Amino acid sequence: MGGPRPQILLSRTGPKIIVQLNVMRLGHVELRVTDLDKAREFYVGMLGFVETDGDANRIYLRGLEERYHHSVVLKLAPTPGLAHFAFRVGSADDVENLGKRFKSDGVTVLRKAKGEEKGQGEAIRVQDPLGFPVEFYTEMDEVPWMLQEFHLHRGARPARIDHVNIQTPYVQRGFEYYTKDLGFSVTEDTVTDDGKLWAVWLRRKQNVHDIAIMNGTGPRFHHFGVWLPDITSVIRVCDILAGAGMQDRIERGPGRHGVSNAFFVYVRDLDGNRVEFYTGDYMTADPNWKPIRWSLEDKNRGTFWGATPPRSWFDEASPVESIFDGNLVTPIEVISQDRPHFVT
Ligand SMILES: [Fe+2]
Repeated sequence: MGGPRPQILLSRTGPKIIVQLNVMRLGHVELRVTDLDKAREFYVGMLGFVETDGDANRIYLRGLEERYHHSVVLKLAPTPGLAHFAFRVGSADDVENLGKRFKSDGVTVLRKAKGEEKGQGEAIRVQDPLGFPVEFYTEMDEVPWMLQEFHLHRGARPARIDHVNIQTPYVQRGFEYYTKDLGFSVTEDTVTDDGKLWAVWLRRKQNVHDIAIMNGTGPRFHHFGVWLPDITSVIRVCDILAGAGMQDRIERGPGRHGVSNAFFVYVRDLDGNRVEFYTGDYMTADPNWKPIRWSLEDKNRGTFWGATPPRSWFDEASPVESIFDGNLVTPIEVISQDRPHFVT
């Protein structure tokens, strides 16, 4: 597995201990759904995710290109939301060193033994500095590769998980945490007229992002992105949903983004959790990559063709769980002038 190994300051308060750690990529998300059978029909039956495993409380899904146990977990819960998202790191040492780093910063670390999350090795979970439930792991069971099992591809042919997008009032703090503490690089960002960071796209793998941080009421989970093989597959998502009489699940697009250049459609699952089907961004491997900077006022930033996103896309996002008791975290509301004001 490639990529630079960032030098990380282990402690902000004690002696500066430099360790190497290596976040590889976004690994998976766990979403809360209120009806597992209906969610299975939506994600597997209609959209074509592969079901690796399941029990009375969870379904474990993956894309056709993925060689590990799961990239999307659907968890039965009384209300929708995000249970956690997880980054895959390079080694067991990286998991251990991150645990020490969080501990020395006064962050409570929850340890998960091998198998506690099905198919997954030892892991740590934290409520991160922005309030999100985040996991770090390295081991996951290998499963059959479906990429060339073309006769079994169904629905929109989802390939792999690509990114998460989160909302927080503390975008600047998030930018600093992800770049300085976790070694992420900025590929694109958006600033307000007075120079404040409004949104930032951050990557470890070598495309546009593993995580985007947007200004807004938070901590709230805005969406996760799923890579499709081509633009036709994005159109296919719309045809499948419309064919089933579920046009109301198509929230925004299809279209092309200004940021990332990707072709996309945003869909709300049966519980309102938001999924972006996404393809065709670009490579960002060069070490001297200069971030693309957008003005918040730029009409081609969100949708390159200029279409205005619906209000719901800005206002609505999913609550996130506490890793400690499974209850939902109360978000901090952003005052209205900090909301995107170019939408009328
Ligand atoms: Fe996990």
